[in-house]
Amino acid sequence: MTTKMQGNAGRGQGAPVGLPIDRVDGRLKVTGRATYAYEQPSAGPVPPAYGYIVGATIARGRIVAIDTRQARQAPGVIHVMTHRNAPAQPAFGPSVPPTPRDVFTRARPYLASDRVRYYDEPVALVVAESFEAARAAAALVQVRYQAEPGEFELAPRLAEAYQPPRTNAGFAPDSATGNFANAFSEAPVALDVTYATPYQSHNPMEPHATMAVWSDAGLTVYTGSQTLGNFQAGLAATLRIPPERVRIVSPFTGGGFGAKLIVHADTVLAALAARELRRPVKIALTRQQMYANAGHRAAMSHRVRLGADRDGRLSAMGYEVWSATCRFEEYCEQTAVFARALYAAPHRATRHRLVPVDLNRGEWMRSPGEAPGMLAFECAMDELTGLPYSTRNLVDCMRTGAARFGWQHRRAAPRSVREGRWLVGMGMAAAIRPNYLGAAAAQVAMDSRGRVTVRLDMTDIGTGTYTILTQIAAESLGVPLNWVRVELGDSRFPRTAGSGGSWGAASAGSAVADACTQLKARIVAAAKGPEQAAPAAVRFADGAVTLGGQTQRLDDLMARVAPGGLQAEGRVAGMGEAYKAHSHHAYGAHFAEVAVDADTGEIRMRRMLAVIGAGRILNPKTARSQILGGMTWGIGAALMEQTLLDTRYGNFINHDLAEYLVPVNGDVAQMEVVFLDQPDPNANPLGIKGLGELGVCGAGAAVANAVYNATGARVREFPVTLDKVLAGMAAAERLAL
Ligand code: MOS
Repeated sequence: MTTKMQGNAGRGQGAPVGLPIDRVDGRLKVTGRATYAYEQPSAGPVPPAYGYIVGATIARGRIVAIDTRQARQAPGVIHVMTHRNAPAQPAFGPSVPPTPRDVFTRARPYLASDRVRYYDEPVALVVAESFEAARAAAALVQVRYQAEPGEFELAPRLAEAYQPPRTNAGFAPDSATGNFANAFSEAPVALDVTYATPYQSHNPMEPHATMAVWSDAGLTVYTGSQTLGNFQAGLAATLRIPPERVRIVSPFTGGGFGAKLIVHADTVLAALAARELRRPVKIALTRQQMYANAGHRAAMSHRVRLGADRDGRLSAMGYEVWSATCRFEEYCEQTAVFARALYAAPHRATRHRLVPVDLNRGEWMRSPGEAPGMLAFECAMDELTGLPYSTRNLVDCMRTGAARFGWQHRRAAPRSVREGRWLVGMGMAAAIRPNYLGAAAAQVAMDSRGRVTVRLDMTDIGTGTYTILTQIAAESLGVPLNWVRVELGDSRFPRTAGSGGSWGAASAGSAVADACTQLKARIVAAAKGPEQAAPAAVRFADGAVTLGGQTQRLDDLMARVAPGGLQAEGRVAGMGEAYKAHSHHAYGAHFAEVAVDADTGEIRMRRMLAVIGAGRILNPKTARSQILGGMTWGIGAALMEQTLLDTRYGNFINHDLAEYLVPVNGDVAQMEVVFLDQPDPNANPLGIKGLGELGVCGAGAAVANAVYNATGARVREFPVTLDKVLAGMAAAERLAL
C-alpha cells in the first residue's frame, strides 16, 4: 500500500489542525494498556461472574419445555436465567417507532417470553465463576421447541412488500419530481436493470461485551459503545430505572460500524444478572453469536431505470429498492435517498418497500443507504454510457481523480486490454454521503499550569477522535498538543451524539471548539477584567496569551490569576433551521483498476484511488485511514462479502471470520487517497464535513465497473465472485459472436 504521509511535522508547534498527527492513544493501544470492556477488572471487592448466552436453534416458534437442572448442577455455575425466572421487564414496544429517536432508546427486553423470533435469539443465560464453566454448562441446558415455518427469502416475495412510513434517518419512503413514467418511456436511450445485494455483517474486531456492576449509586456498565446516550436511555427503559442511575463507561471501542449504536443482549443480560446476583457480571457475545444478535445489513433488490437523450443527458431516473426487514422491529435502510440529491435529471422517482422475514433486525451498517445503494446505482450508471455529471465539488473530485489515475488510458470497450492471462480494466464511481450534525456539549478545563483537560461523552471507535479533539483544543487555546488531555467515553461527561453516521468529528469537534472559546473568554476576564477584553486584541498562541500588546505565558498567568484553574462548557446545536438552508453532503470519486484471469475468472485488485471533498481535513493521517478502511469495505462489498442464510432454518451459515470473507492485505494492493481540502463554512464553524463513511460509498461500484471493463461481464448480483464472472464472460463472448 502506498503511503504519502510526512512525519509529525507539527507536533508541539504551530497550528496543529490539518497536520498528520500520530494517534495520541496509539501507544496505549499497541502496548495493550487501552482497556476494553471485557478486560475491565472488577470495580469492587467481588470478582466478576461470567455469563454465557444460550441461543435458540429454531427461527420461529415457541419454547415448550426448558430443563436447566443439569446446567445448574454443573461445576462453578451460579445461576441459570430463562424466560421462566428472568426479572420482569417492560414490553418491547411498537414495531414502527413514532420518532427515529425511540429506536435508539426503547426498552429491549431479553428472556422475556417463550416466543422465538429469530435463530440464535437468547433463550437462557448461564452465569458461572468462569467463562469456561459458563460455556460448558450452557451446553447442558435442554430446550424443546414447537417450531413454526419461517420465511427468510426476499426475491420470491417481492409481491408481499409494503411501504414503510419512513426510512432510517426519517426520510419519506417515496419521492417524485416531474413525471418519471412519461420521461422514461420517451427517452431515446433507456436502461432498466435489477441488482441484488446480499446480507452483510459488520464484524468489528472487538465483539460486543459488557461488564455490569451495581452499587447504591445505581448501575455502572463497561461496554463497547458508539453512543453513550443511547445505551443509557435504552438500558434505563429496559430496567425501569431513571437514566441518572445508569452510568456508561466506554473509553475504548474496538470498532462499531453501526453495530454498537444501541444495546444488545450482552448489555441487557449482564445488567439483569448483576442486579439479581449482587455481583459484577461480564458477558461477551461470541463471534458466531454476533451474526444473529448484533445487527446486519439486510438483503436488497434494486431496480434502476435510467433514461437519457443521445448526447448523454439524463432525463429520467427511477430507483426502487426492496429490502428484507424484521417482523417485530422494522428497519428500512434509506438506500435510494442519496439518488434524490446526486443527479439532476428533471424527472425522478425513488421508492422503498419492505418484505418481512423471520430474522433479527437489520441495523445501521457503515454508510446506511449509500453503501448498498451506490453499489447498485453506480454500476447501473456505468451501464448507461457517456453521461455528464453535475453538482458541487463532485465534478472536481472526478476530474482530479481521472487525471491522477490515468483515466485517459482507459479503453471504453470492455475486454480490450490483455496482459498475458490477465484481462485489465478500469472503473469509477461517484461518492456522496450526507453531512450530519448532532447536538453535542463539551467541557474544557485549564489548570494553574496551563494544562488542559477536555471532557465529553464522545467515543473513539478506532477513528481517531482522541487525536482530532486534542488538535482542535490545542489549536483553539494556542497550546502545545502535549498540554491537552482528552477524556471520552463516560456518560457523566457532557452529552454528545457519539460516533455514528459520520457526524462525530463535526459534532464533537464543534462543541470542543466552542468550549475553548468560552474558556478563553474566562481566562481573559480573569487576567484583565471583562471590560477591557476586546476580543480582537486577544491572541492565544504558543502557550501564551497576548492582551493589549502584552504577551504572558499561560502557565505564569494561570498560576497568578486562577490558581484553582478555570473551566467552561461549550455546545453545538444539531441540524437546526440555519443548517437546513443548504443541502449538506460530502463528495468523492473512486477509481479502480483490476486484472481478471481470462480462464479462471480470478479477480485481483491492482490499484484504487479516492478523491475526497469533505470540507476541512482535521488530520490527513486519521482521515486517510478512514477512507482506506472504507475503500477496503468497498472491495469486500464488490467481491467477497455476503452472509449466507440457510433458508431451511433461518440461520446464518458462514458466521465467523474464517468463512465470512473480507479483504486482507494481499487482496488490497495499491491505494491512494487525495483530499480536496475545502472547508465548508455553512456546515459548522470549523468547516468540517464527516468523511468516515464516505470511503465506502461508491467504492465497490468502481471495482465492479472495472471488472466489467476488463471482461465484459456485467454481474448484477453481489458479490462479484469468479463463478459469476466466468458465466458473464461466456455470455459476453456469445454476444460478440
Ligand atoms: Mo454508523 S452505520 O451510523 O456507525
